[in-house]
Amino acid sequence: MPVAPTDSFAMVCCQNGSEPAVKTEVSAQGWRLAFSRRGFISFKHDAARPKLPQGVFVRTASWSLGFVKGEHSAGNVEQAIGMLSAKAVRPAFDQLHVWPRDRLPVGKFEFEPGIDEVSRAVGESLVTPLHNAGLIAEPEFNRPALPGQRVLDVVLVEPSQWAIGWHPVPSPSAGQAAPITVTWPGGVQPIEPTVSVISRAYYKAAEAIGWSGFELRPGDLAVEVGAAPGGACGRLLELGLNVIGIDPAEIDPEILEHPRFRHIRARAGDLPRRDYIGAKWLLVDSNVRPDQTLTTVEHIVTHRQSTIQGMLLTLKLGGIEHADRIDGWVRRVRQWGARDVRVRQLARGKIEVCLAARIGQ
Ligand SMILES: C[S@@+](CC[C@H](N)C(=O)[O-])C[C@H]1O[C@@H](n2cnc3c(N)ncnc32)[C@H](O)[C@@H]1O
Repeated sequence: MPVAPTDSFAMVCCQNGSEPAVKTEVSAQGWRLAFSRRGFISFKHDAARPKLPQGVFVRTASWSLGFVKGEHSAGNVEQAIGMLSAKAVRPAFDQLHVWPRDRLPVGKFEFEPGIDEVSRAVGESLVTPLHNAGLIAEPEFNRPALPGQRVLDVVLVEPSQWAIGWHPVPSPSAGQAAPITVTWPGGVQPIEPTVSVISRAYYKAAEAIGWSGFELRPGDLAVEVGAAPGGACGRLLELGLNVIGIDPAEIDPEILEHPRFRHIRARAGDLPRRDYIGAKWLLVDSNVRPDQTLTTVEHIVTHRQSTIQGMLLTLKLGGIEHADRIDGWVRRVRQWGARDVRVRQLARGKIEVCLAARIGQ
């Protein structure tokens, strides 16, 4: 029997602290709250075949199959196999992803989301029994999923309480391009830097670029506003781009001395707009209010000589209760003639969202 959303329970992971915003956006899709912990929420839907929850603050969404709970991992593994076998979920899932809910807000006590030691150990304990039981095709776990695959998701609500579900990765042949984030275990980009990471903004920029799907190519010119100390510029340089970093603050010497990097030591608003001519990509990560960021960007991208084709803007929320401002920001960006405007709270971002949009040509 093929795996199908037989019942209408779903589970969502989000940033610790973003639950109110998730509940608002997902309840507007007809989902009712079932169970909630920081960073993890399950929902029920009355319709027989709803769509999985989606939204700016939804990092992962899975069809929920149930929970297992117990002090011993071996007992939980047995319960999980029993549950999946009883539900006759055949043919096997293609992949197994195991990750923890975010136990802390991103950045607090240096917390970073993603796979930790405990989820790695749980994955080790699950993978062989699940494979032997014919429930997962590959005897491996936490590999990025491929288009068309079904992924068995195990979220550690607690080390002793696992939420079990699954999600499909849409296939382009079915006419749906899969957002790359659904291929990442736990919705956190797997990345191994080949350059020194100057700041955690390296990861944030890498995630923003990956999620946006923008075709950044070696030799393209990117401008980053709010570039110091240079983490994101490090990612752009790693991808082979030429980079201009605009910031009144100091740039790390390693970035500063890179032959494809130029520092303009100024506030973005003080620069003549011709300084941006030739740039294809605009990244903004300055710690200023979103309205100010949008005013700066508007001046750059609506200039008649602007060559910008895509922008990735960090917009600080200043509190999750201000999530309702996002629609206004999107409207404003659309007024500039921008297309494909999308917003996501990145796993590696803090209390902020990333707005991606295409513009020009
Ligand atoms: C979060 S940090 C940026 C981190 C950086 N993107 C990285 O990858 O390391 C914010 C930066 O915005 C800069 N900033 C604030 N207002 C600015 C403005 N009007 N123009 C340019 N930079 C600005 C600050 O000096 C600060 O270095």
